[in-house]
Amino acid sequence: MSAPVLLLLSGPNLDLLGQREPEVYGRETLAEHVATAEAAAKRQGLVLEHTQSNHEGGLVDAVHHARGRAAAIVVNAGALTHYAWSLHDALASFDGVVVELHLSQPNAREPWRHTSVVAPVADGSIAGFGGLGYELAVDAVARILAARSEPGRP
Ligand code: DQA
Repeated sequence: MSAPVLLLLSGPNLDLLGQREPEVYGRETLAEHVATAEAAAKRQGLVLEHTQSNHEGGLVDAVHHARGRAAAIVVNAGALTHYAWSLHDALASFDGVVVELHLSQPNAREPWRHTSVVAPVADGSIAGFGGLGYELAVDAVARILAARSEPGRP
């Protein structure tokens, strides 16, 4: 049996990590976070795929492509987190595990960041741990998948 696929989805402006507001988001690049997630996925027997888009439709397309194929999605949707209802609906159509991820803690920032349209369709959210969050998110996915495949579970 082939290893379950985990899609890591990165939204707008995350391609600028390392240069963009380092005091908020740190100095690591997106490529470095993806490498961290990839290593964590490998340890957990998962295959990581990564897609970054600066466009809402690009993220929606990536979720559609994951349907019926990927076991889980870890999504840092950037600012789209706070208003992209088409992404909410796409994630609602995905029947695997969904983990919402943020480097910063949006609830401790401006009020407009306190709403997440991703949270209601996610199994859980990880925020405020910087780059460590990528590892924590992959480990959470692996543990949820393991619990779901326990014998006797409906
Ligand atoms: C972010 C938080 C969002 O509010 C912001 O728009 C981002 C990054 C984070 O990872 O902390 O682009 O998702």
